[in-house]
Amino acid sequence: YAEAMYRSLLLAVSRGSAVRRAVTGLPVARRVVDRFVAGEHAEDALAVTRRLTSAGLAVTIDHLGEHAADAAAAARTAKAYLVLLDMLAPLGLGERAEASVKLSALGQTLGPDGEAVALGHARQICAAARAAGAAVTLDMEDHTTVDSTLRVLRRLRADFPETGVAIQSRLLRSEADCRDLAREGARVRLVKGAYAEPPSVAHQSRSAVDRAYVRCLRTLMEGNGYPMVATHDDRLIAVAAALAARAGRGRDGYELQMLYGVRPARQRVLAHAGHTVRVYLPYGADWYDYFARRLAERPANLAFFLRSLTSV
Ligand code: FDA
Repeated sequence: YAEAMYRSLLLAVSRGSAVRRAVTGLPVARRVVDRFVAGEHAEDALAVTRRLTSAGLAVTIDHLGEHAADAAAAARTAKAYLVLLDMLAPLGLGERAEASVKLSALGQTLGPDGEAVALGHARQICAAARAAGAAVTLDMEDHTTVDSTLRVLRRLRADFPETGVAIQSRLLRSEADCRDLAREGARVRLVKGAYAEPPSVAHQSRSAVDRAYVRCLRTLMEGNGYPMVATHDDRLIAVAAALAARAGRGRDGYELQMLYGVRPARQRVLAHAGHTVRVYLPYGADWYDYFARRLAERPANLAFFLRSLTSV
């Protein structure tokens, strides 16, 4: 439970506006953030995409930002994706580059019409992705958004069946969600879950989250969809390979995913060993919440950040 406490505490502290102002104002923060973020502009994301894909990796590009403040902000985010995908298309990377999208950045939480607004933007993004030979994966945010995100996913999949979604093993409901999505043949990115969630909806201990991850993996591997195993945890990666083999899936029947800047050497080793390894690549100016979650999930990341502050 120390781990759950660390996560909740850090996420709570980081949400304070004074802390946000202090951290985003630090010149040194930029250098540390650069380890996890491609840069501010689409050009930066594309430059890193070229570098990673020529090293044998695949990418899923995320425009940073969440919880659009109003409809105009949601429209700006959607536009940023359309511009990015237009720039991506001529690179001819096909499935080796896709987009990850947070529905809250597209307006999902803006009142009663929010979901419809987000769906409208997401449809356009899916169409632009398809024109670039790519797909879209919906990120999963905190537990209050899951029903809405799955509704949007199902609407999108009617026209764009290649659209995927992230599912968090931390949430108690996720085993049932995996069963449904595996039956429907969806692409599912399985993650542990980066948000602090209450015991009424989520496993609290690391071991319970890991055990649930294995149960979800088994369901996805035995199902009709395409499992995307998103973790830096070597034990779970080994379990995934064993479950895939048992379910008769070859190396092209699932993929591994990791975050940009986390275990980069391991990413390359796995790719050289013949796995499809996709790197989640965020870019944009609005890096703070993403960065705070990386600190919350791993005390070593916080230590790295603090060391860099004292070494100037
Ligand atoms: P965890 O953090 O428990 O680490 C497990 C083990 O991995 C460690 O004990 C260590 O052995 C090894 N490890 C981890 N980091 C290491 C490092 N830097 N160096 C060496 N070893 C290290 N979350 C969410 O809620 N919604 C989402 O949509 C997504 N999307 C997403 C996409 C992708 C591609 C990834 C990889 C992750 C997400 N996440 C996410 C985040 C996810 O929920 C989770 O918070 C992080 O991946 C951290 O959990 P791990 O599975 O890596 O294990």
